[in-house]
Amino acid sequence: MIISLINHKGGVGKTTLAINIAFYITTKEQKILFIDADPQGKVLQWQAICDNNTFDVIHHPKDTLHADITELAKGYECIVIDAPPSNLDINLSILLTTKLAIIPIEPSPLSIWASEDTLSLIEDARRHNSQLEGRFLISRRVVGTAQGRDVREELNGIDMAVINTEICQRTDYVKSLKEGLSVLQYAPGSEAAKEISELCEEIKFDASYSPSFLTDIRRNIDDYKVRVIEKKQHPRIVPFVAVDFAVQGRAYRGSIHNISAGGAFIETRESFDVGAEITMTFLSSKDRKPIKITGEIVRSGPQGIGVRFKVPQRDTINKAVTHEG
Ligand SMILES: Nc1ncnc2c1ncn2[C@@H]1O[C@H](COP(=O)(O)OP(=O)(O)OP(=O)(O)O)[C@@H](O)[C@H]1O
Ligand SMILES: [Mg+2]
Repeated sequence: MIISLINHKGGVGKTTLAINIAFYITTKEQKILFIDADPQGKVLQWQAICDNNTFDVIHHPKDTLHADITELAKGYECIVIDAPPSNLDINLSILLTTKLAIIPIEPSPLSIWASEDTLSLIEDARRHNSQLEGRFLISRRVVGTAQGRDVREELNGIDMAVINTEICQRTDYVKSLKEGLSVLQYAPGSEAAKEISELCEEIKFDASYSPSFLTDIRRNIDDYKVRVIEKKQHPRIVPFVAVDFAVQGRAYRGSIHNISAGGAFIETRESFDVGAEITMTFLSSKDRKPIKITGEIVRSGPQGIGVRFKVPQRDTINKAVTHEG
């Protein structure tokens, strides 16, 4: 089994969860390799605090992971990969290697919106790694709130499963890592330890090591090189597209600074109420046909507004702002 904790958004709990999941798997007597793929390499520092050698850790922040994995994985039954925030090349390589990608997500609409890039990358990686499965994990939920239920409703429109177990905001997670331990070692029987056990039981890691999976990964390597060349020839995002938009019955003009399947950032000097509905119209850079998308303003600042689309627009955006067929 090769599991990765991935989300381009920083601070959602990837490293905390990766360490705790890895420790739990060792209690099932599986030999684990923990790959810290974040250039910052914090997991080796965590391991050194009290010489916690319950599993092996290597620091491997490289976009060649999918090529290196066969060698690295020798002798291990399960591999847990901690992904860096916002590093497209390393994260694509991780996803080409992964069987189960867990996407921790904080319970806020902006957090969902910020995870759109990760979802697009999963879609890209699936073209070469058909065994890749992605699942959201609600992380850092404030205890005693209905944030989890709300975020599940928000995630309804996205075609990806959400893990039932929710991880709450708890000081034991922070304290245990400071001590160089997992929560199961630091506070066994605590709510945090229970959450981690429940999560791992739900995911079921018993599918263990699969040599055929690694053979498939080897086959992906050539495809991946082709993909990198494609990416260079066809940049995905065309910035500064002129856009007409309407909010509360009034018409405005601005420019799209950034757009993804889940939303866009529109440069404008006007300020708007967060939560207001917006309808935006712009011309496809491919065939110059008008594209109309409705969304909600989730952010308004001096540079412009952040818009979250009502329904994810992956196909529309792919057709509109790339040169892919
Ligand atoms: N469930 C939680 N409860 C309380 N604190 C948490 C929880 N999860 C993470 N934290 C704290 O939030 C901070 C960020 O967590 P972590 O480093 O695991 O996130 P990350 O997604 O790996 O971040 P980055 O993208 O920067 O690598 C850390 O200080 C960590 O201790
Ligand atoms: Mg991290």
